Amino acid sequence: MMDLSSVRRAYRFYAPVYNYIFGRIVDEGRRAAVSGLRQQAGDRILEIGVGTGLSLPLYQSHVEVTGVDVSTEMLQIARRRFLNAKYPQVKALLEMDAQELDFPDNYFHGTVAMYVASVVPDPQKMMQEIFRVSQPGAPVLVVNHFASEKGLARSMESKLAHFSKRLGFRPDFSLDHFVELIGFEPAAVKAVNIGGYWKLLEFHTPHKKPAEAESCCANGCSNGNL
Ligand SMILES: C[S@@+](CC[C@H](N)C(=O)[O-])C[C@H]1O[C@@H](n2cnc3c(N)ncnc32)[C@H](O)[C@@H]1O
Repeated sequence: MMDLSSVRRAYRFYAPVYNYIFGRIVDEGRRAAVSGLRQQAGDRILEIGVGTGLSLPLYQSHVEVTGVDVSTEMLQIARRRFLNAKYPQVKALLEMDAQELDFPDNYFHGTVAMYVASVVPDPQKMMQEIFRVSQPGAPVLVVNHFASEKGLARSMESKLAHFSKRLGFRPDFSLDHFVELIGFEPAAVKAVNIGGYWKLLEFHTPHKKPAEAESCCANGCSNGNL
């Protein structure tokens, strides 16, 4: 089981080399996710697990991007490079847990979560929080590797899963399980990156009825109405 301290430990270790290992190789997925946003002037965009900020230059200069992450070391790299006048779209880079977002309900016009769904200890809580802080109908783009269905890749992922805490992600995290946790299907699924080994999922924030929103967040979501 992943927990926040193992996530922080893993990304403290990855931070100095992260851009070299996970930079270009999965950049196509970042571009595809960001291009799924509308990006109208003044839109407030939330990026969950912003890491070293590799996606930040992809946003248009007229939006306001808030990035959150739990790794101090990953954020330090992002802040050093992107919190300046050259990137007016970067509004804030905050140390914050995606499972407990410190933003009001219905605040953001769009949200992206790139390569974080299989890292965060409780992906269901993360998605509930994302939908809570996103405006009804707002796009939510999630890109991630999900477990292969069969073959050699499947057996390697199952073996690697024993080392999830050290690796800093769950190699056996399946798309079916993720969708089951969320409680409704994505509007679109697209294969991205080398060999289509990663998937881009597009969700639209459900419309929330106040009474249902409370009971749903307390009990887990079982349908498209949060
Ligand atoms: C694989 S990296 C992806 C970084 C970035 N999105 C990218 O495209 O390179 C996963 C990131 O998610 C962050 N993360 C994991 N759990 C988190 C949580 N509960 N809240 C916020 N960030 C989290 C990690 O610290 C790490 O920076």
